[in-house]
Amino acid sequence: MRKSSETGLILGIESSCDETAAAVVRAGSTALSNVVASQMSLHANYGGVVPELASREHLRNVVPVVREAMRRASVSFEDLDAIAVTEGPGLAGALLVGITYAKALSFGLEKPLISVNHLEGHIHAVLMETRESASAAMELPLLALVVSGGHTHLYVARQDANSNTWNYRNVGRTVDDAAGEAYDKVAKLLGLGYPGGPWIDALAPHGNPRAVPFTFSEIKHRAPREGVTNKKAPTRTDGPHFDFSFSGIKTAVLRYVETHHMRESIEARRAALTADPSITPKSPAAVALCDKQTLDLLASFQYAVVGNLLRQTLAAAESLGAHSIVVSGGVAANSELRRRFQAEADRRGLPIAFPSLALSTDNAAMIAAAAWPKFVAKDFATEDLGATPQLRLGAR
Ligand code: KG4
Ligand code: ZN
Repeated sequence: MRKSSETGLILGIESSCDETAAAVVRAGSTALSNVVASQMSLHANYGGVVPELASREHLRNVVPVVREAMRRASVSFEDLDAIAVTEGPGLAGALLVGITYAKALSFGLEKPLISVNHLEGHIHAVLMETRESASAAMELPLLALVVSGGHTHLYVARQDANSNTWNYRNVGRTVDDAAGEAYDKVAKLLGLGYPGGPWIDALAPHGNPRAVPFTFSEIKHRAPREGVTNKKAPTRTDGPHFDFSFSGIKTAVLRYVETHHMRESIEARRAALTADPSITPKSPAAVALCDKQTLDLLASFQYAVVGNLLRQTLAAAESLGAHSIVVSGGVAANSELRRRFQAEADRRGLPIAFPSLALSTDNAAMIAAAAWPKFVAKDFATEDLGATPQLRLGAR
């Protein structure tokens, strides 16, 4: 007879934004199932996620998605060792749907409940896959760039030698928009579909990345010099920080559109895409709807954003002595980002890993994987677990 603690089957549930997801993962490394019900087409009509609609859809989807994850994994609820759920950050109403259902399951099945930070989940999407593929373990400390529609964060991650639990230190974050948000807003401004990342990813290679020289002003903070104290300055924790800002480039694109009188062609493209929803980012019709000026603008935007992410990440890795790099989150699906990060990491001899495309965007396998070390350490949530929309990962 099987001893359940030997198999480590964890059901993960994720509902922080616009995907209702459930997955069964064994011992933090093998996904037996990974089901995602995307609400993307629903929110596409509004050009962004509408919180009330998201909560309603999660309510509609959570039970069938969990059932499907269990069916595909060929396991019964009794076989599970724990239920893991995203506690935050995310939309309060959306998070609550997953949390409430996970709590009900945990209570009814008398299995432990584990709360997971969504950002930690994105990092574990990569760690899970490197473990599963038996590729060399990522050497610690690792530097993780989590870059998505809601987040642009840099973390130094370490594992406790005794408990094996992970700890994180935030060493960079966006001071305004997330990188994915900039992709979505620029795509919307240029009359492209939602979410904008895949559109710009597919169209940028058709333009000249050096046509429009976008620049970033660096927001790099240094810790105060030893012995120098300034009581009026905001309290700083240790070490240098490598922050991001993406609202400036969004405004620069808007200014470019205005000064180059692109409005008319943008509205024509928007109307054409609305009239024919079968046009996808990769279809030739999408390229045909863009003139050279638009393609050059998209290519230049992407070149600048990826360049900025790359510069800050490498500067942080070097300054903080990271032994490997992990890039995760929706924007990590970007092909130019993967190519340039890989090339630069290779040049410096730094191991780098990205999640498979399926695990780049929101999913529940990453939540179940991140829960595994907590399960081993018996780090369980209590029954009063609630949603924490602004939940942070690690100290800054
Ligand atoms: O991780 P995710 O699914 O949800 C959040 O936690 O935000 O990320 C979604 C974001 C969106 O902003 C989307 O435009 C962006 O990831 N994205 C991409 C690509 N695929 C998705 N950005 C650039 N290139 C892509 N291929
Ligand atoms: Zn995410």
